[in-house]
Amino acid sequence: MNPRLRFSLVLFLSLALSPAPSLSWKEEEFRNCNQTPFCERARSRTPGSSRLIASKVSLSDGSLVASLVDRDDSSGNPLSLTLTSYQDGVLRLVVDEDPSFDPPRRRFRVPDVVLPEFESSKKLWLQRIAEERIGDDVELSVVVYLNEDYEAVLRRDPFEVFVRERSSKDRVLGLNSHGMFDFEQLRGKKEEGQEWEERFRGNTDSRPHGPQSISFDVSFYGADFVYGIPERAMSLALRPTRGPGIEFSEPYRLFNLDVFEYLHESPFGLYGSIPFMLSHGKGRGSVGFFWLNAAEMQIDVLGEGWDAYNDGKIVLPSSLKRIDTFWMSEAGIVDAFFFVGPGPKDVVRQYTSVTGLPAMPQFFATAYHQCRWNYRDEQDVAEVDAKFDEHDIPYDVLWLDIEHTDGKKYFTWDKVLFPTPAEMQRKLAAEGRHMVTIVDPHIKRDDRYYIHKEATRNGYYVKDASGKDYNGWCWPGSSSYLDMVNPEIRSWWGDKFSLQSYSGSTPSLYIWNDMNEPSVFNGPEVSMPRDAIHCGSVEHREVHNAYGYYFHMATSDGLLKRGDGQDRPFVLSRAMFAGSQRYGAVWTGDNTADWDHLRVSVPMLLTLGLTGMSFSGADVGGYFGNPDPKLLVRWYQLGAYYPFFRGHAHQDTKRREPWLFGERNTELMREAIRVRYSLLPYFYTLFREANTTGVPVLRPLWMEFPSDEVAFDKDDSFMVGNSLLVHGVFNEHAKHVSVYLPGKQSWFDLRTGTPYPGGTTQKLEVSESSIPAFQKAGTIVQRKDRFRRSTAQMVNDPYTLVIALNSSKEAEGELYVDDGKTFDFLSGGFIHRRFVYKEGTLSSYNVAPTASGNARFNTKCEIERIILLGPAGQPKNALVRPGNLKTEVEYGPLQLFGTGSSNVLTIRKPGVRISEDWTIQLS
Ligand code: GLC
Repeated sequence: MNPRLRFSLVLFLSLALSPAPSLSWKEEEFRNCNQTPFCERARSRTPGSSRLIASKVSLSDGSLVASLVDRDDSSGNPLSLTLTSYQDGVLRLVVDEDPSFDPPRRRFRVPDVVLPEFESSKKLWLQRIAEERIGDDVELSVVVYLNEDYEAVLRRDPFEVFVRERSSKDRVLGLNSHGMFDFEQLRGKKEEGQEWEERFRGNTDSRPHGPQSISFDVSFYGADFVYGIPERAMSLALRPTRGPGIEFSEPYRLFNLDVFEYLHESPFGLYGSIPFMLSHGKGRGSVGFFWLNAAEMQIDVLGEGWDAYNDGKIVLPSSLKRIDTFWMSEAGIVDAFFFVGPGPKDVVRQYTSVTGLPAMPQFFATAYHQCRWNYRDEQDVAEVDAKFDEHDIPYDVLWLDIEHTDGKKYFTWDKVLFPTPAEMQRKLAAEGRHMVTIVDPHIKRDDRYYIHKEATRNGYYVKDASGKDYNGWCWPGSSSYLDMVNPEIRSWWGDKFSLQSYSGSTPSLYIWNDMNEPSVFNGPEVSMPRDAIHCGSVEHREVHNAYGYYFHMATSDGLLKRGDGQDRPFVLSRAMFAGSQRYGAVWTGDNTADWDHLRVSVPMLLTLGLTGMSFSGADVGGYFGNPDPKLLVRWYQLGAYYPFFRGHAHQDTKRREPWLFGERNTELMREAIRVRYSLLPYFYTLFREANTTGVPVLRPLWMEFPSDEVAFDKDDSFMVGNSLLVHGVFNEHAKHVSVYLPGKQSWFDLRTGTPYPGGTTQKLEVSESSIPAFQKAGTIVQRKDRFRRSTAQMVNDPYTLVIALNSSKEAEGELYVDDGKTFDFLSGGFIHRRFVYKEGTLSSYNVAPTASGNARFNTKCEIERIILLGPAGQPKNALVRPGNLKTEVEYGPLQLFGTGSSNVLTIRKPGVRISEDWTIQLS
């Protein structure tokens, strides 16, 4: 075709097919449960409809195995069941078709998510089983040991698996307690009159293997609320989706989709799917349930009275309050994990022991990132960079969106706009700054493009149902998609990030993975057809929710191999699945510049944190639309506490760098960003905590105050670590904000030092200069208060310790420091200190496992200031040991991120290093 004609056609199609900014979310573009046959079928099941019983129970390879057979019909093939206990209160239940009965094909088990070390070294080898009669069972149930406090029970008839406390026999978590388990076995060929194809909005899914869905009920005992199963823009506590008087009539959907202009208050599933739910209640704390399955999933939270029609047929033996849920998936197997808790942090630890701990980021990545679609050219980049300095605003990373490439061919540069990319990065690097470029999974079908040529030659693309390379539309126009499920292709992809292969890249360049749901503009529901084929004849429907995960993994592994392999990768991804926390950060996609989206970012990020994705953020300012300066300022003030802190905007929006809205607004945004920089030592310590325990940086209040019921459904405020509580301002005209301060201890306003009692709701005046933030009494927070251009200049800066005393005049906190860059911390190259204030003395202790840590990493950083908030008495002097150095203490107004009214005690220049043991005694 004539190139001009072709260009016009491409342009026309791109405009016609890419989501136009003037449109808003179109519900009808996406399937609801009634348009999804497996969901509709499953939802029509009633309690007690399962006729499965467990038979032939025995021990094999340290696990309990059994057959599930139909009580009334022996013509079908039995299912195989395996129950395994793991250390630390984890139970795994696998149900699949029994291979000895020759099913037409193997069902897909998601590989590469469960950590190999979990499988190999955490398994408890079951030695024996006990039997007992439970309720009106016909056959004896089998009991297996989980840990000192919990045991698991396999009830045979009717089939049920539950976990209970060993001493009280109270149940904590149960599967199929309502008898709704269903497993559609593969049939090989259609029965007469049957239709396997499915149609939706002009797309046909050939469904060559027919119906293969699975569904079952899961009950959480002692639960006041359930949480988790991201990603969606709604409240933290999941509201019921079924039952009398229920507001949401759709189940929660887990199906990774590029949802254009998503709504701020909607149960609709977005870019990522993590099939992990936690419960919490005053009755007994927390438990968790995770179903490792990457096909489309739909989950109902059943409201009280949902089973009224059950006529009391099934009465569960517990007086504890319970939340019932119903899980449905289109394909795959049952590979389910039960986590016994009993605290919320225990559940998160148990979940991350299976799926992995969040990666430890480089220090720079925890600071502020500046992005927009797009920084136009090298000059624009240089100007934006210079303006940050001119306005004394720190930032660490400048991002380039899709327009930096040559025709949306990733790993290339637009030669006119970005003629000297390596030099551009070197200039930033000279100021200690980094760059991030976007690399998406759709590959332009251009015969001159080396990635496309190699991928085509090697057969690396996902195939369509007819076996040809799947061809869809995305940013570059006609595109194909790499089959990231295949480890060979991931490895090949990873090599493309080497400094030799990625021309114009330098060691200070990091990566952004987008559109990896995958997004296909002309595909069904803006994604890939479910009957597309991956390696090993795996259908896309079976692996859909993990596609983005594999892409993120391949990119992160690529950066790991790059250069001398010393530096920790940084890769931001939009799509995610269970385990994505091992590969980097995620963000909540294309939000909108309005107050409701600012508000909903808090529960969205809290939910991500609870499900392992600690390193997460929302686009500061809102992606679509132009934020009013007031909104933008409030967004910076809130975003400064997001684990991942990045300003970003759509290409059709007006420029919105922090200096464009008048001096006062620049000042306010500068202040907000500086708060983040000042708290970076505290944040970094929390990132390390997440990296060792799974406990997220951003936490719901109930995670820190598990018995404070008022906190259970709070999602307008959050904890940063265990010490800071932050409350957003979500209304343009807000003069006051009501803040609930949990617990029995007091709280100190971060700026003024004013104390407030815990367990109270405070109506506080808000000014434009900050959002409410407090330090919990009894904690010590570390800061670096000298303002620099970027984190690189902060490395040797001295620390400030802020000690918030509780009523016993005590406090403690921890500080973790390493080189901020390499993996040396894994072999002891870090400093980890505990600061304890008690009986008028502040002491610094080493808590690194061996003192040898200091040999691999050390720092001469000193503490330049210690601030005491709370009732310290009226000491005059501070005696520093060793050295017996006496210094005077000062009293005066608090000078943190502004000036406060409270008179606080300050010790200046005590002359101690953070890496050493010392005491400072007040008298
Ligand atoms: C997607 C991303 C957005 C990005 C745009 C262009 O919409 O979510 O952040 O700016 O693509 O690459």
